[in-house]
Amino acid sequence: MDDLTDTRLSGNAQEDLTERGYSRRQLARIAAVFSVGAVAASVGRPAWAAAGVPDPAPVVKTRIGANECWTGPLMPGQKAAAAIIADGNRYAPKDERGDFIKAVMAVENVPYDHVAPWPGSSDPLSRAVVSFCSPTRGLVTADPTFELAGRTATWLGAPVKAVPLKADYSHDVKAMLAANPNAGLYYICTPNNPTGTMTPLADIEWLVANKPKDAIVLIDEAYTHFADKAPVASYMAAAGKDVIVMRTFSKIFGMAGMRMGFIMARPDIIAKMMRYDGGMQSGALPLPSLACATASLTDASGIMARRKEMEEARGMTLAHLKKKGLTVLPTAVNMFMVDWKTKPAKDMQAAFMKEDVAIGRNWPIWPTVSRITVGSMEDMKNFTRAFDKISAA
Ligand SMILES: Cc1ncc(COP(=O)(O)O)c(C=O)c1O
Repeated sequence: MDDLTDTRLSGNAQEDLTERGYSRRQLARIAAVFSVGAVAASVGRPAWAAAGVPDPAPVVKTRIGANECWTGPLMPGQKAAAAIIADGNRYAPKDERGDFIKAVMAVENVPYDHVAPWPGSSDPLSRAVVSFCSPTRGLVTADPTFELAGRTATWLGAPVKAVPLKADYSHDVKAMLAANPNAGLYYICTPNNPTGTMTPLADIEWLVANKPKDAIVLIDEAYTHFADKAPVASYMAAAGKDVIVMRTFSKIFGMAGMRMGFIMARPDIIAKMMRYDGGMQSGALPLPSLACATASLTDASGIMARRKEMEEARGMTLAHLKKKGLTVLPTAVNMFMVDWKTKPAKDMQAAFMKEDVAIGRNWPIWPTVSRITVGSMEDMKNFTRAFDKISAA
């Protein structure tokens, strides 16, 4: 590698990043982001494993630690995915990508060119950071929230400010702007992971109206379908604001392993996120995943039934924990935060694991608070039984 040349990045990308103030070391790190898949393939392990993320925990009976859905894709999605396998010899037998975008248009009321599908939402989330942050334009995020944006920014050498949530656990948008009035990206996760709480649209609109020029507000709505009357920000994308609205099929749609997600944003914002690979990651997606997502997105009654099932299991669990005197933070979706008060969350996680129940992690800001995913009624009965056993010991 000589001076600023890294053969893993195109000439345009290098020029662009050099102009934006990246050092040679930082360029090499960015190049590694886009070649990690190739590195992983060469050693026969998944990309996330090669990137330093530990292999998943051993399979346990009750898995309520990773905010997955307790069951597989909605039935219309499963049928569509199975049916298209026979046409898998073609890249695009009948414009399945276009059909998916049309389903998003119908549900979200956004123009065709404002939608980009992805294999999940982790890629566009990290990519938004790479595209809009730099050593001089940092990231502002919340604390606690989903950490991926913060990790990507730290890795790239962009400054990160993590602003505590308000007393009602919504994002403190005024404090977020004050924390860095010249950031490149403001990350709002609503409903928020791990608290399950929502930030009012009026607050997000305020941030969009008052943020610096060229900055982007990234609105992560991964859990939106689990909430009754969730605020949905797609109208801001349709109106051409400086926003990226992000969705995933890994949650209520039960497709975490099938990898589907999408963003809604102005075409020029989407184009900036494609600078590095010409859009391949969004342009060519596995057909069964595309077909499954298209058929699932419009299955309003299936989505509603799943939400009701989750609410019932959550209601039973929260009532049990409250009866035992535990403090549970308010939540609108399929996860909740329980405060063990005198016991470190890490010890409780280990104790539950011994009972064959994998609960979620804790966030450093709250060392005695664990995140629990709401699974099926049976999962949650296993959880409350394990809790009773652990607390009686
Ligand atoms: C808030 C949030 N955003 C994004 C993701 C990424 O999920 P995926 O890449 O499966 O779409 C997750 C996963 O847990 C999440 O909780």
